[in-house]
Parts: sequence; C-alpha cells; structure tokens
Amino acid sequence: MIIAIDGPAASGKSTTARLVARELGFTYLDTGAMYRAVTLAVLENGLNIVDEAPLSDLLGRLDLHLSTSDGETRITLDGRDVSQDIRSIDVTAKVSAVSAAPIVRQAMVPLQRRIAATRNCVVEGRDIGTVVFPEARFKFFIVADYEARARRRQLDMERLGETRSLDELIADLKMRDQKDSSRDHSPLRKAEDAREIDTSNLTINEQVTLIVEQVKNQLANRKPND
Ligand code: DC
Repeated sequence: MIIAIDGPAASGKSTTARLVARELGFTYLDTGAMYRAVTLAVLENGLNIVDEAPLSDLLGRLDLHLSTSDGETRITLDGRDVSQDIRSIDVTAKVSAVSAAPIVRQAMVPLQRRIAATRNCVVEGRDIGTVVFPEARFKFFIVADYEARARRRQLDMERLGETRSLDELIADLKMRDQKDSSRDHSPLRKAEDAREIDTSNLTINEQVTLIVEQVKNQLANRKPND
C-alpha cells in the first residue's frame, strides 16, 4: 500500500511523512533525497546538465542505495554515506535544475517504483500522487504559508551552522516553487484526488495525527473488496 505525500519545499512534508511511516510501521521513501544524491554526483563530477551524454553515462553507473534506520533516511552513493552532504547549500541551489532534467526523472521514477513494489510505503516528493503512483491508496498534498515555511527552513539551516534571514529564505522558496511548478516534466501539482493539508498553524503532532487517523479510519471502514 502506498501513501503519497507531496508538496512544496519546507511545507513540513518530510517530517510528517517520516513520522506517519513510523507510526504505521511503513517504509519511508524520501524521493527528494534521491534527486539530491544525483545532484551531488553531478556537482562532484563537474557535469553540466545540458550535456546529456555524460549525464546519461553518470546515471547509468550511479550506485544509489536508500535505507531507513531509526526513521532517518540513509543514502549512499557508490558505498559512501552522503546523507549529510546532500543537504548542503550547493546541492540545494542546484537540485531544482537537475531534477527537472527528463533523463534524471526517467532514471529515478522506475527506481522509486521498484523500491515501493514489495512493501507498504509512505512516499514523499512532488509528483508521487500525479506521476509515480497515480493509483496510490492515499494521497496528501501538504502546503504552508511562506512565513511558516521560511521559519522551518531557518531552523534547518541553523542545525547546519548557517544563518539566513527570513526575507532571503522567502525569496529562495518563491524561486524554488516557481521552478518546481513550472517545469515541463512532472511539475509540482496537487493530484485531483489528493487531500490538501495546510500545516501553517499545525504542530508536527497534529499533522501526523490528521493523516494517521484518516488512513486508519478509511482502512477500518473499507468494504471486503476495497
Ligand atoms: O524535498 P526536497 O527539498 O529534498 O527535494 C529536492 C528537490 O528535488 C526539489 O527541488 C524538487 C525535487 N523533487 C522532484 O522534482 N521530485 C520529487 N519526487 C522529489 C523532489
């Protein structure tokens, strides 16, 4: 069974998805981490994403592994743990462009489907309910206002030892939304059958409970052939 959780950057979807997975005993799949790992490899190999041949070659030999331990996603690239490196400012600045490249999506989407094929998963991203798993049993689209999102991003950055002003972060988020929503391939978009949840004024606990309760209620009320 798939629970798809989509939404813009810093909307609170990662923390929510991780905790929902933990609460329900599902595997948590962070697809943004996969695009970030590809971006790290692109940067480390000094590639220009408009040069398709070297990018395609890199994607073909990329040894990418995801695992979850204590609810945290660990991601390795060619055997090296890059879970921290993929959160760097350089990767964050470049990932919208890399994830918009059709050949990158063509490589990542089958991998996401393979990972989720054999287990119950909470899958988090931008196009999970629309493109990767349009048949997902549950779909949620998480949103929050810019100020709430910038404050959350500011806390994340502080943990990395970076100080950024709210105005600067709001401008970054607006730019990223614009890029993620306007790209030709798999733009960020709410699936018609997704339930929208505005987390601006919700605590993490409230967000998680809202989703977990809805999933549990729907499963408890299902008919035999559902
Ligand atoms: O959720 P995040 O900030 O870690 O995602 C990083 C980038 O990857 C973001 O710019 C959008 C992109 N992304 C995507 O295009 N499709 C997904 N399913 C997940 C993330």
